[in-house]
Amino acid sequence: MNKVVLIGYMAVGKTTIGQLLAQKMNWKWLDLDKVVEKKVNLSVNEIFKLKGEIYFRKLEHEVFKEIIQNNEKVIISTGGGTPCYANNHLLVNGENIVSIYLCASIDVIFERLKNAKNMRPLVANQSEVDLKEFIAKNLFERSYFYNQATYKITIDSKSTATITNEIFEVLH
Ligand code: S3P
Repeated sequence: MNKVVLIGYMAVGKTTIGQLLAQKMNWKWLDLDKVVEKKVNLSVNEIFKLKGEIYFRKLEHEVFKEIIQNNEKVIISTGGGTPCYANNHLLVNGENIVSIYLCASIDVIFERLKNAKNMRPLVANQSEVDLKEFIAKNLFERSYFYNQATYKITIDSKSTATITNEIFEVLH
């Protein structure tokens, strides 16, 4: 194993857990959105606004492929859509890679996302009423890809420390 890839819907804690897990395992950590942003010197929000989602997905794929295909040990926090586009699910489930699906219920995602939607172009303009419906539909479509992960960890009402320990245990 030389890659641990965290996947799952927006606001489930992929970034936070990735950082904690990296500390615990003493591995390097990368946040895919941050690497994409650095590559073009634009925020994810700006990329969506100026270039559109398709451009973002192409860029996300290129950057992800580059990271996945070297032998360095690294923990990768992906974006919520990463495994669902451009055949990235095949990369996520490649050789020497362990993928972890951080799974949350629609209600938990809604509660977390409604206060954190501004930086997320897919949901930034949704009203609270529409947001829940959007999450339900989008999560349903994406679950096919998320469920291909090596391990599925339910995060509802667990502390970040508990989730990190649970992942650590399944990896060892
Ligand atoms: C996206 C999730 C975001 C970011 C982009 C698209 C998605 O990452 O990659 O806004 O399609 O779910 P987070 O899951 O870190 O919010």
